[in-house]
Amino acid sequence: MNKRIMITGGAGFIGSNLLCCLHEKYPEANFLNIDKLSYASDLSYLSSVKDSNRYTFKKLDIVDRDAVRDIIRTYEPDGVFHLAAESHVDNSIKGPEPFIQSNVVGTFNLIEECRQFWQRKGKLDSHRFLHVSTDEVYGELGDDGAFSEETPYAPNSPYSASKAGSDFIVRSYFHTYGMNVVTTNCSNNFGPHQHDEKLIPTVIRTALEEDDIPVYGKGENVRDWLYVQDHCEALDLAYQKGRAGETYTIGGDNEWKNIDLVKKICDILNEEHPSGSVSDYKELITFVTDRPGHDFRYAIDASKIKRELGWSPSDSFEAHLRKTIRWYIERYQ
Ligand SMILES: NC(=O)c1ccc[n+]([C@@H]2O[C@H](COP(=O)([O-])OP(=O)(O)OC[C@H]3O[C@@H](n4cnc5c(N)ncnc54)[C@H](O)[C@@H]3O)[C@@H](O)[C@H]2O)c1
Repeated sequence: MNKRIMITGGAGFIGSNLLCCLHEKYPEANFLNIDKLSYASDLSYLSSVKDSNRYTFKKLDIVDRDAVRDIIRTYEPDGVFHLAAESHVDNSIKGPEPFIQSNVVGTFNLIEECRQFWQRKGKLDSHRFLHVSTDEVYGELGDDGAFSEETPYAPNSPYSASKAGSDFIVRSYFHTYGMNVVTTNCSNNFGPHQHDEKLIPTVIRTALEEDDIPVYGKGENVRDWLYVQDHCEALDLAYQKGRAGETYTIGGDNEWKNIDLVKKICDILNEEHPSGSVSDYKELITFVTDRPGHDFRYAIDASKIKRELGWSPSDSFEAHLRKTIRWYIERYQ
């Protein structure tokens, strides 16, 4: 691991898990976290690193180009893990503009300032820029098949379109300037530190409140769920060993219909935190009007990252889900 790593979005869900993981794994490395501290962030997730002399936090909006330039010239990073983004599809439907600003303009500001700085230092092809993206850029699948690095982009929501835009900017910096970039496209993550608005925290929270558990449509949509720590391991490998200019799709081989996942969470909650007034949390499941343009199914063919980088998801979904549910029970008490 290089000496000075900049992580963007390190106060969010995946970024905070990644920062804690890398900080522990690489005791020789220093880390700068830049995050604008949106509603989705929480600095308390970083309690294990906040007092470390190898960790620095800077509140900064990557849409502010001057601020991005200043921090890159001051900190002089050897490498970047770029995770900062507006990340919630529903919010992108209600108001797309912040998604274009943070995800497209912000990514441009960051990679362009890294390019200028690293080029002047003669480090353009050695210092790595890892761009963290989503499988949602590929659109939706029918009953069969899986997304891979070869799948054409077909984003359907303003969120996925903004991520696709950022992926194309990053791609162009490899082809045009020879920058040492790698892009990862991952499926749905779950685990500690995820914002309340996302599916798994919403199910746990509403169940514990003994409120309706909202499920879009008939809950038939299918997602491939990956434990956040498995994603962090994949990001570390892609950063260390990924080939410049390549993309890697990352997924858990773990497809669930939303309704089946919600029922599974209810079953675990029935064991871990039985309710006083409902005999089974599944009684609270309520179908609500579907999300406009709701992609039917996502699935990932992760054979490239497995073959080339030796990554694999851990196979204990049940154990990870139970651990995650316990973490949210603690949080919501
Ligand atoms: N959560 C998933 O399932 C998933 C799956 C695949 C890819 N991703 C990608 O991983 C990355 C992280 O996702 P997450 O779920 O942790 O998101 P999150 O919303 O939990 O966290 C995002 C963080 O980025 C920060 N941020 C947003 N805009 C910023 C800006 N303009 N300047 C500085 N900081 C800004 C926020 O304050 C927040 O702390 C995103 O790029 C997302 O597209 C997420």
